[in-house]
Amino acid sequence: MNNTLLKIKNLNVEIEGNKILRNLNLEINRGEVHAIMGPNGSGKSTLSNILAGNDGYNITSGSIEFCDKNLINLPPNERSNLGLFLAFQYPIEIPGVSIMNFLKTISECNRKTKGLEPLKPSDFLKLVKEKAKILGIEDDELKRQFNVGFSGGEKKRNEALQLLILDPVLSVLDETDSGLDVDALNVVSEGINGIKSNENSLLVITHYKKMLEKIQPNKIHILINGKIVFTGGTEVADLIEKNGFEGFQDNV
Ligand SMILES: Nc1ncnc2c1ncn2[C@@H]1O[C@H](COP(=O)(O)OP(=O)(O)OP(=O)(O)O)[C@@H](O)[C@H]1O
Ligand SMILES: [Mg+2]
Repeated sequence: MNNTLLKIKNLNVEIEGNKILRNLNLEINRGEVHAIMGPNGSGKSTLSNILAGNDGYNITSGSIEFCDKNLINLPPNERSNLGLFLAFQYPIEIPGVSIMNFLKTISECNRKTKGLEPLKPSDFLKLVKEKAKILGIEDDELKRQFNVGFSGGEKKRNEALQLLILDPVLSVLDETDSGLDVDALNVVSEGINGIKSNENSLLVITHYKKMLEKIQPNKIHILINGKIVFTGGTEVADLIEKNGFEGFQDNV
């Protein structure tokens, strides 16, 4: 089996005529954890939105292959069914839809693609409660409207809950650590660690080394002005925390 899960080649992206991503190349193998760090506005969320299929961007050239399929022409739901998941930097609120109903819907769609029947209601409830417990989410929270009135940290934990329920092949985490208190960061990181496997890969976007210390990425990429200017190991996060991005600017 081909071990490459995601292959981005020479990707160029514009928004309203401004170049946001420039000749971006990124290859993630099955079972690998990659991280992207970079200054505000460097294009990290743009990349995650492009992967998820947000259509507000103009891909001027380049290619994205995921699970040996051309991702660019697929609608977001088909990308999700292939096993791609994006935890949003700014999770949205969905009034009128409970977390439980939302999770049930995404789980059923996901299972249907795999040719599986929906879980029995009692089994599904057990699964959600088990995963919620790992993340420190109270049962009462599951009945609330999706993210409505949730604190920043609660929204991030809710993103992580979807991830644990779906068990995606590629999880893109766009600053899932931002806004979490120290304890929540620990439980969420541990929860995310639980889905790591030889098959599943993670792309973790972050500004801080704390979550990376827990998740231990194989590679850390530095994105500046829409371009990956450096790729290294976990030591990169220490360098950035110490000296910022200054040392990497020269390479752009
Ligand atoms: N819809 C849009 N219209 C105009 N400019 C946009 C739009 N979306 C993003 N941009 C611009 O693209 C650039 C990259 O934004 P992006 O959100 O990808 O940055 P980021 O690396 O995720 O930053 P942060 O660390 O602050 O989350 C920014 O300059 C941003 O203002
Ligand atoms: Mg961002």
